[in-house]
Amino acid sequence: MAESVEGRVRVPQSGEVLREEFNRWAEAGRGEGMEQDHLPITLPVLEKMRLAPADNVLDVGCGAGWLSRRLAKLVPQGRVVGMDVSDEMVRHARRTSVDFENLMFVTGEVEEIPWEPNFFSHAVSVESAYYWPDPAVGIREIFRVLKPGGSAWILINYYRDNPNSHQWGGLLAIRTHLLSAAEWSEFFCAAGFGRVQHERITDHSPTPEVYTGRWFRDAAQLRAFKAEGALLVHGVKE
Ligand SMILES: C[S@@+](CC[C@H](N)C(=O)[O-])C[C@H]1O[C@@H](n2cnc3c(N)ncnc32)[C@H](O)[C@@H]1O
Repeated sequence: MAESVEGRVRVPQSGEVLREEFNRWAEAGRGEGMEQDHLPITLPVLEKMRLAPADNVLDVGCGAGWLSRRLAKLVPQGRVVGMDVSDEMVRHARRTSVDFENLMFVTGEVEEIPWEPNFFSHAVSVESAYYWPDPAVGIREIFRVLKPGGSAWILINYYRDNPNSHQWGGLLAIRTHLLSAAEWSEFFCAAGFGRVQHERITDHSPTPEVYTGRWFRDAAQLRAFKAEGALLVHGVKE
């Protein structure tokens, strides 16, 4: 047993533990279900990325691939690679992406991205980074596969500065990293990124009057969470 970053005792988390847990999510259809929740915070990020038609983009922790497919449409002359530690997520992603010629999915861990250095113009990751066993190593790997001038964009809803999501740590079956915007930015700087910035992406989608899920206390907390916003950290490989 090992202690998680929040101080609770949990089993040590390896790629295998992540794979098994997210395979369960994929089998339960949760990969596809995440599009609805993550789209409102992801659309503003896609605009900020300023993609050009021939760009090559890596989607880290791509899940069932909804974002990878959107990216593939935005870079018709480029390539998109969706990568995920869960082979079941990757299977789901491939099944629904057969019509895309510029999109492929690979199974892999961000700590060892199965790709050559200096290839991608952009790397993006939505709601995945706080699960990575060692986020500093993952961000270094992203730096390696970006070409000079390329940029990395990490978007997360679970971070120290938004208290309305802290309860997720106790609800998830896997270990999470609850870090501040400053700590995430520091990982970017340590990996070698320049022009490192962080900002909030607020979610303006309508909130139901009554909340019946398990992730928030009630609709008021969900509303507060969305108003506080997701954390976007980005930087450039100069
Ligand atoms: C909450 S889901 C988000 C999926 C997708 N980005 C989306 O927005 O729908 C997190 C994803 O990150 C993947 N993941 C977690 N740790 C990973 C790691 N170390 N390397 C690669 N993928 C990882 C999981 O398998 C899972 O599919």
